[in-house]
Order: sequence, then structure tokens, then C-alpha cells
Amino acid sequence: MRKILATSGLVYANGPLHLGHILEQIQTDIWVRFQKLQGNDCIYICGDDAHGTPIMISAQKQNITPLQLITEMKESHEKDSAGFLIDFDNYYTTHSEENRELTNLIYQRLQENNDIETKVINQAFDDDAKMFLPDRYIKGTCPRCKSPDQNGDNCEICGATYSTTDLIDPISIISGKPPVQKSSEHYFFRLDKYASFLKTWGKKSLQPEIINKLNEWFEQGLKSWDISRDAPYFGFEIPDKPGKYFYVWLDAPIGYIASSKNLSLRTNINFDEYWQPNSTAELYHFVGKDIIYFHALFWPAILEGANFRKPTAVFTHGYLTVNGQKMSKSRGTFILAQDYLKHLSPEYFRYYLAAKLSPGIDDIDLNFDDFIKRNNSDLVGKVVNIASRSAGFINKTFNGMLADKLDAPELFAEGIKLAEKIRASYEARNYSSAVRSIMQLADLTNQYIDEKKPWGLAKENPNNRGIQNICTMGINMYRLLIIFLKPILPLLATNSEEFLQVPPLAWEDHKTPILQHKINEFKPLMQRIDPKSIELILA
Ligand code: MSP
Ligand code: ZN
Repeated sequence: MRKILATSGLVYANGPLHLGHILEQIQTDIWVRFQKLQGNDCIYICGDDAHGTPIMISAQKQNITPLQLITEMKESHEKDSAGFLIDFDNYYTTHSEENRELTNLIYQRLQENNDIETKVINQAFDDDAKMFLPDRYIKGTCPRCKSPDQNGDNCEICGATYSTTDLIDPISIISGKPPVQKSSEHYFFRLDKYASFLKTWGKKSLQPEIINKLNEWFEQGLKSWDISRDAPYFGFEIPDKPGKYFYVWLDAPIGYIASSKNLSLRTNINFDEYWQPNSTAELYHFVGKDIIYFHALFWPAILEGANFRKPTAVFTHGYLTVNGQKMSKSRGTFILAQDYLKHLSPEYFRYYLAAKLSPGIDDIDLNFDDFIKRNNSDLVGKVVNIASRSAGFINKTFNGMLADKLDAPELFAEGIKLAEKIRASYEARNYSSAVRSIMQLADLTNQYIDEKKPWGLAKENPNNRGIQNICTMGINMYRLLIIFLKPILPLLATNSEEFLQVPPLAWEDHKTPILQHKINEFKPLMQRIDPKSIELILA
């Protein structure tokens, strides 16, 4: 039995979840459920990322305290994730005592290693709001194409990237006044000291596309990383440095450790087994490609410096796009998790993503025509259809009782053979390949039923034992399909277990058929998607 800890990225506590966040959680959840189904000891850790300037500003704008904002957001996030059947073992927050202690400890260890240096830097400062301004809080005219109202560090019109000091007529978006330059002392983590460690770690822990990215960064040379921010800031104050705070991205990944710590304090999970430097547990981070710099460079280097275990691997995925384009509020394709859930079952989205996810970092497109077609034809038309075609006869004529033998053992054997391929696909996060194999098995089963035509036999003699044998075969194939689909469709699995009158199915159960066993009345297990519900989501 393997001991595994998996995480999804900690979600910023300044807005509700959208389908992009959900993509990542579904990818992780399927993997974790698969591991558990295999009998492995796997825990799923996540939480909110509660610190930083945007959260502070957002709370100010709403006239509430940051603590109120992050408390509300955490509740909202947990509700939406649960709606998509995401089964966290712990959902915590980076704004916690566990995280403060761990961040201080890690910082102290880095200091002892001489990994921290101080530098005085110049930065844009809003003299009205009395705060330093991150680039995204400055706007101005593009120095290249002269378009007004462009971002602090890049132009959306001509695509130029520049430094905020090059902007023409810059203004702070907080006060609307031009920023001034002001100097301040900052703390930096000496990333360069870890270059050779990172090269070795990266080779065994990252996808090939990410290793290439890493090599580009190595060629450019690793620079020290600014890990402090000046007050006012919502975060952890640096011990003995009044007015200086840890940058949100320092304590954010430490939140993975803090969430595990919190879990260990309220259950019998042994914290040290997961995070000690000699830990033999496996540790995996699922993240989007936008935050790979933090997870493939800073994070392992900091763990190494602070004498914690390193991630076994970082699993990076691409971005969710909608109808081929980046989700966008103006096009009405910025879909909130809660809006989807108002109109559709979470399992359609889980299945659709599974059918498209690969271990790579390509973007995943949500195309609604394809979404409707796949769910209706695969799940309703192929899989659930097998149960409904078979259950009717068994219930009506044979009192719910399955026959005592398999009519087509070679078809069942085909399922057992595919199990190993499907297992390997799940393990490698190649869910699309797993789904292809599963649908192949569903096709074979439907072909078998089509050839045997139990309805034809029933016309001649409804009590023909052959009908019971054929439908017993159908039910057993359905059960195999459900075992294989269980990580993706946990709700369908639970409802099917009830229909089949079996205890919760485990992966190993696929090896043995159920015979001379009484099943329940068949109730429709999944509905076709009505295209109208899509219109409602996009409205
Ligand atoms: N708070 C940081 C992560 C800190 S982890 C120690 C953050 N938060 S986030 O809310 O912006 O994003 C959370 C996760 O969702 C990230 O892994 C991010 O890549 C992912 N996604 C955000 N938008 C996404 C899509 N449109 N598509 C797929 N994943 C997306 O980053
Ligand atoms: Zn421009």
C-alpha cells in the first residue's frame, strides 16, 4: 500500500470559484479517488490562499475586514467544490496559526543557512494611500503604441512588455494620482544557491515540457526572490521586523504543510510521515501552468533549504478555455462554479474533462456542442443503456435474480484484460485514454446485447432462461464499467451500487462477477443533457 499526499493549488480568497479552478480540482480528485479505489492510503489537501494586496484592497472596497472577506470566500469555495464532488481530506486556509508557525520556522532555517539577503529597492508608492504599488495597481499610456489606460507592465493593444517606470503618465488605480518612487529595504531568498539541486530534482519530478521551461530559466540565470512586502499588507508580519510582511507567495505553498498539520491535529494522520526530510510518502502537487515558476523553482528550493522533504512530482495542466477562447466576462464565457451547478449535474463536467485530460499541459477546451454530445452518447446512450436494457427483464421475469453463470465469459475476460490498461492510464493522469478504453468495453457490451437480442427471445417465450443469462452478462459488464468509471463519476457509482445491491465497489472487485445475486429495481441513473440548460448557464 502506497502512502500518498496530493494537493491542488490553494485558491485566492478574493473571488468565487470558476470552472478553471474546478478543472484542476477535478483532475486531482479523479486521481485521488483512483488511488483510494486501488486501496492506497492517499490524502487530498487543499485550502484557500488568504493573503496579499488584492485581498486587502478588495476587502477595503467592500467595507469589510480582510478576515470577514476570507471567511466568506472560504465558505463559498468549500460549497462549490463539494458541489462538484471534490472530496478533500482537509480544506484549510493560509491565514492560520499552523501556517504562521511553519512560515516563521522555515524563514528562520533559511536565515541560518545564509539564504536570506537584504537589499534596498526603489518602488512605485501611492502617497495618498500610503502604500507601495504592485505593477497591476498602476496604469498609464503605453510607451510603444501610446494607447491610454494600459497595464503597469504590459500593453493589451500592442503586446509590449515594459517596466512601470517606462509608462507615460502613470497613475495609481487606488488614488488616481501619479505614483512617486520610494525606497525600502526588502528581504530576498538566494535562489541561485539551489541551481544544481533544482536541476537534479527537476529531471525526475517534472513533465518534459516543464523541464524545457526550467532549462530556459537556468540559462537566463536564477535571481534572488523578493519575499518581503511593506505595510500596509494583509499577511504575516516578519518576526522582529515591524512593518515588514512575508510576501503572499512565500507562505502560500507552506499552506500545503499547514493544512496537513491541521489535519494531523484532528485525526490520527501522522504529520512527520509526510513532511520529514526522510519521508517515504509520495507528495504530488497539481497546478496550472501559470504558477509553475513558484512550484518548480522557489518551492523545492525553500523545502531543501529548510530541511523538509521535496515534492515527488509537480503535475502541471493547461488552461480551461471556453469555445476555443480564454474565459471572458464580456463574451459571457466566464463561468462561475455556482452558475454551472444551478443548472447541471457536476458529473457531466467531470466526465467531459476526463474524456479530454491528458498528462500534458495543453489547454482544455469546453465546447458545448461536444459537451452535450459526449455525455448524451457515452454516458446515457452507451453505459447507462446497458443497465436499463438488462435490468428490465431481470426485474420483470426473474424476480431481480441474476443467473448462476456468465453467458459470454470471453467478454468478461476482455474487461479484466482492459483493467490493467485503464489502471495504468489513470495512474499516468491519462484520463482520456482510460475513458477511451472504458467506452470500447461499453461498445463491445452493446454489440453483444444487440447480437443476442433478448427482446426477440422474450417475444417467443418470456421465461426463457437464455434471457436471464444474457441480461446477467449485461449487468456484470455494467458493473465492470462502473468500477472503472468510479473515480470520475462517484455519484453514478453510489447510485449503481444501490441498484446492484452491492457494498461500495473497489478496484479489485472487477475480477469477480456477481452471480445468483438479487438486484434492485432499475431507476434512470442519468438524464440526457437538455441544451436549454447550457443557455441558462451562459445567460
Ligand atoms: N493562490 C495561488 C496558488 C497558490 S498554491 C500554493 C493561485 N490561486 S488561483 O486561485 O489563481 O488559482 C488556483 C489554481 O487554479 C491554480 O493552479 C491555477 O493555475 C488554476 N487555474 C486558474 N484558472 C484556471 C483556468 N482557467 N484553467 C485551469 N486552471 C486554472 O494561483
Ligand atoms: Zn501598446
